[in-house]
Amino acid sequence: MGESMKVVAVLYPGGEAAKETPELLGCVENCLGIRDMVASYGHELVALSDAGAGLDKHIPTADVIIATPFWPAYVDRKRIKNAANLRLLLTAGVGSDHFDLAAAAEREITVAEITGSNVVSVAEHVVMQILILVRNFLPAYRDVMDGGWNIGEDVGRNREGNAGAHDLEDKTVGIVGMGRIGQRVAARLRPFDVDLRYYDFRHLSTVEEQYLGVRYMTLDSLLKECDVVSINCPLTPETEGLFNRERLGSMKKGAYLVNTARGKIVDTDALAKIMREGHLAGYAGDVWYPQPAPSDHPWRSMPNHAMTPHVSGTSLEAQKRYAEGIRDCLECFFEGRPLDRDYLIVDGGKVVSPSYSYAYK
Ligand code: NAI
Repeated sequence: MGESMKVVAVLYPGGEAAKETPELLGCVENCLGIRDMVASYGHELVALSDAGAGLDKHIPTADVIIATPFWPAYVDRKRIKNAANLRLLLTAGVGSDHFDLAAAAEREITVAEITGSNVVSVAEHVVMQILILVRNFLPAYRDVMDGGWNIGEDVGRNREGNAGAHDLEDKTVGIVGMGRIGQRVAARLRPFDVDLRYYDFRHLSTVEEQYLGVRYMTLDSLLKECDVVSINCPLTPETEGLFNRERLGSMKKGAYLVNTARGKIVDTDALAKIMREGHLAGYAGDVWYPQPAPSDHPWRSMPNHAMTPHVSGTSLEAQKRYAEGIRDCLECFFEGRPLDRDYLIVDGGKVVSPSYSYAYK
């Protein structure tokens, strides 16, 4: 056996639920189910939830860092500079923007994520949140919890910019980023008899477009025409702040926006302002910046939102899939075998994932 390596995993605290739910594999207590496996190779595993000073202590000696989008450890250029031994950065999930990909490429550190592991989980969450907004579920639910029966208030418009309860049928829905999740959102929405549009810097083939029932549009036209917009592209230097004041303002008045991609794709203050002004009828999603979102994050208190903490991609089924993927990556790495090509984001000193590479030329 070669030299002992140090694997550092930064994962969310599972608390009591970690004991009740052994399938809660993504938490620090259950540590992706990899403890015995790492030990069996003679390597050291450090699992922690402190993504600040706690992680900093281990940076200089870590060979591998595992981070998760749900409780991100931001491994930026400075940390990469201090990580003399680092050779592999793994994302337990999908979306590796918490790592500085350019800095990792310069140092020839491999970055991999568990591609596809939670794409159905997110697509289901998107459909759920679109329905929650359009059907005006939350005011009606609150009415029930408060002991009321106020049909008019639950269904009608109000002065706080609430647009009332509607059918999703016949609405125009636009998807920004037509990759694995975007396509699954489209497939799940099609039976609702909606008019589906998409924007991506890569076009689908005509056959794919026909199969999904989607039509390509420029981003500008999509924002002007759609009643509902779902963001499903990665966070890159090109998409950071893509939904700024101007683009949010160019959306159809009374439209709904759902963002399960990354918080930083939407300008925090511009969104809170436009929601208060009532230009958009609703906002939902589960991604924030930073994460965990502080208790005074402006999105927590803006009107007409239906946000959750970052949970969409971490259903118990998803955790099983990304835990298996992490195990697979580590075994390959320990044995000197190549990682599954589909998982690679940065390899051989280059950003190789087609969803990211155009932004890192
Ligand atoms: P994917 O790589 O299959 O698809 C991403 C799509 O976005 C690609 O078609 C790509 O061409 C497109 N894209 C990239 N830059 C773009 C731009 N500037 N404008 C328009 N389109 C652009 O990735 P997948 O699996 O669909 O995931 C997408 C993102 O969703 C992830 O990168 C991650 O940030 C987020 N995600 C969130 C989760 C959650 O729990 N909320 C879980 C999984 C992913």
